[in-house]
Amino acid sequence: MNLPARHRALAVAGLALAGLLAGAVPAATAAEQAAVAAPDIPVANVKQHLADLQSIANANGGNRAHGRSGYRASIDFVKAKLDAAGYTTTLQQFTYNGSTGYNLIADRPGGDPDQVIMAGSHLDSVTAGPGINDNGSGSAAILETALAVARTGYQPAKHLRFGWWGAEELGLVGSKYYVNNLSSTERAKIKGYLNFDMIASPNPGYFVYDDDPTIEKTFKDYFAGLGIPTEIETEGDGRSDHAPFKNAGIPVGGLFTGADYTKTSAQAQKWGGTAGQAFDRCYHSSCDTTANINDTALDRNSDAIAHAIWTLTSGTTTPPAGKVFENTTDVAIPDNGAAVTTSVNVTGITGNAPGNLAVGVDIVHTWRGDLVVDLVAPDGTVYNLKPFSSSDSADNVQTTYTVDASSETANGTWKLRVQDRATYDTGYINGFKLTFP
Ligand code: TRP
Ligand code: ZN
Ligand code: CA
Repeated sequence: MNLPARHRALAVAGLALAGLLAGAVPAATAAEQAAVAAPDIPVANVKQHLADLQSIANANGGNRAHGRSGYRASIDFVKAKLDAAGYTTTLQQFTYNGSTGYNLIADRPGGDPDQVIMAGSHLDSVTAGPGINDNGSGSAAILETALAVARTGYQPAKHLRFGWWGAEELGLVGSKYYVNNLSSTERAKIKGYLNFDMIASPNPGYFVYDDDPTIEKTFKDYFAGLGIPTEIETEGDGRSDHAPFKNAGIPVGGLFTGADYTKTSAQAQKWGGTAGQAFDRCYHSSCDTTANINDTALDRNSDAIAHAIWTLTSGTTTPPAGKVFENTTDVAIPDNGAAVTTSVNVTGITGNAPGNLAVGVDIVHTWRGDLVVDLVAPDGTVYNLKPFSSSDSADNVQTTYTVDASSETANGTWKLRVQDRATYDTGYINGFKLTFP
């Protein structure tokens, strides 16, 4: 006689491990990948963007300043890369000092439109030089982060937006224009603004803005994980494009490696570099070239930016696109009874099924150990996905199994077969999905 399922667990606990090991290996589904770690941002790619910005300055009189041809060329360069990566880009024009200025806004399609996380950097230089640390560095790092979002298929749960500001060097002109021209509704949707202005100074410090506590902690956690001490940014609060956002009541944060202030001996001890020397001796001068970049700082800060964006937008990564065949018709599973099936009809695939056929199983049940779950190929071959287990008292079978189905013809009717082999607990098949890569 069968005992009610809830009372059987202890009697056969010793069999549990063997039972668990016998099944196919469940792979995480997209929905299970709730906290997706940010990718490593390749610093070589960021440096290539800096080399390109240097070339733009070289070809345009040595700078990328507001109202000069090098600024417009910088905007066009960044915009082309974002357009190719699927961003929705907007060029916002303003006039300052009798010249046309531009902000570039790039929206990642998707995410909650009422919760916007934004990252920005000024793209203009002073007229004295090419502005590679100030602020090619921030501009290139957020560009590469934006491209990494596209490359990895990351889908932020919050809406993600990037901004490249014009005429920062003339008094935060572009970012003020952007914030002033937002309707109060649009302004209220921006839940965080992250600013990156000078993040690869040649004698770097690791400074974190201390404005919004959540954003600040996100950055500090990242550096703590690397064992790198940080300090609060104090070299002139409000000296960059986060100021207009902050003044509008938007939570802000950011990173900075130092401008014309001098590195103290205490700072040189914790970060290396040269005490008694400016963080950036080429600040606002002609020597702010690709030679004026500390690669380690650029690398760490680029990764920290990605970490913050991934963390603050909390999204998922979609598995590589494949052909999906799905059946979501409910099928009741009789208690301790005959096997039932649900099926999908696979068509349009040449040759055999893959060695990594993704089998999505969604079964609602009050004691899943009762269930034996099989995949049945079109020719009747059976692949056991999950064995019976008297001790697995958890609810539901909701996972994706990976099956080597490479000896099966892909096209035809594939079945999910489920049998309940013990009395008391019951359930139903809620869905069955095959994904061919
Ligand atoms: N925004 C300044 C510039 O571009 C640089 C700067 C000085 C800065 N102090 C700062 C940037 C503090 C961010 C935070 O010339
Ligand atoms: Zn700057
Ligand atoms: Ca049962």
